[in-house]
Amino acid sequence: METTFAPLETERLVLRPMTMDDAEDLAERRSDTTTAQYQAWRAPYSVERARELIASMESQPGPLPGLWYQLAVERKRDGKVLGDVALYLSGNGRTAEVGFTLHPWARGHHYATEATARLVDYAVFDVGVHRIEACTHPHNIASVRVLERIGFLAEGIRREAYWVEDEVSDDAIYGLLAREWIARREGD
Ligand SMILES: CC(C)(COP(=O)(O)OP(=O)(O)OC[C@H]1O[C@@H](n2cnc3c(N)ncnc32)[C@H](O)[C@@H]1OP(=O)(O)O)[C@@H](O)C(=O)NCCC(=O)NCCS
Repeated sequence: METTFAPLETERLVLRPMTMDDAEDLAERRSDTTTAQYQAWRAPYSVERARELIASMESQPGPLPGLWYQLAVERKRDGKVLGDVALYLSGNGRTAEVGFTLHPWARGHHYATEATARLVDYAVFDVGVHRIEACTHPHNIASVRVLERIGFLAEGIRREAYWVEDEVSDDAIYGLLAREWIARREGD
């Protein structure tokens, strides 16, 4: 199998499948300590590991139930990769989870909000999910702001539920229902 996922566009961005040419950039992004601070990996992140992650994406036709699917976020005006967004579909396909990461130099322009909102749109209208979730460290203010701007609601904190190697932290849960997203879009 290989990826047949058609890129998703926004005003300023293209969300497209990653290729092996993205491996060094992905490793650099994940090796940044401010990026890794609240994430499931520890910096540094090797190019070899980035290649393995991309190879696993390349073996999927697109988002599949039970697996994460990662997309590069490319800026239209100069073709630069700003970061990545990811979508996870639950086994029954009713719920999706989203994730997002930008290079430090790409932050502060609401690119993560624009890219993640497009992914939510895809999950609701193309996949037909009922609910979208996101989890974040409660201190990750930029991430919380991105979610709130899109319309996610804080649903609670799972205490000491998030492990990275042998370190545990609280996990803040955010949720957005498809009908809430549709109502928001209609109100635009
Ligand atoms: C989360 C992330 C993608 C957001 O990138 P971004 O959209 O460019 O974020 P911005 O810099 O525009 O910030 C988004 C909002 O958070 C606010 N913000 C950012 N850092 C902040 C801080 N340290 N304290 C308070 N507010 C902060 C911004 O002012 C902005 O607010 P606004 O929407 O009211 O204008 C980026 O910070 C990142 O890649 N972080 C590392 C990876 C990560 O943690 N991903 C999320 C995992 S759940």
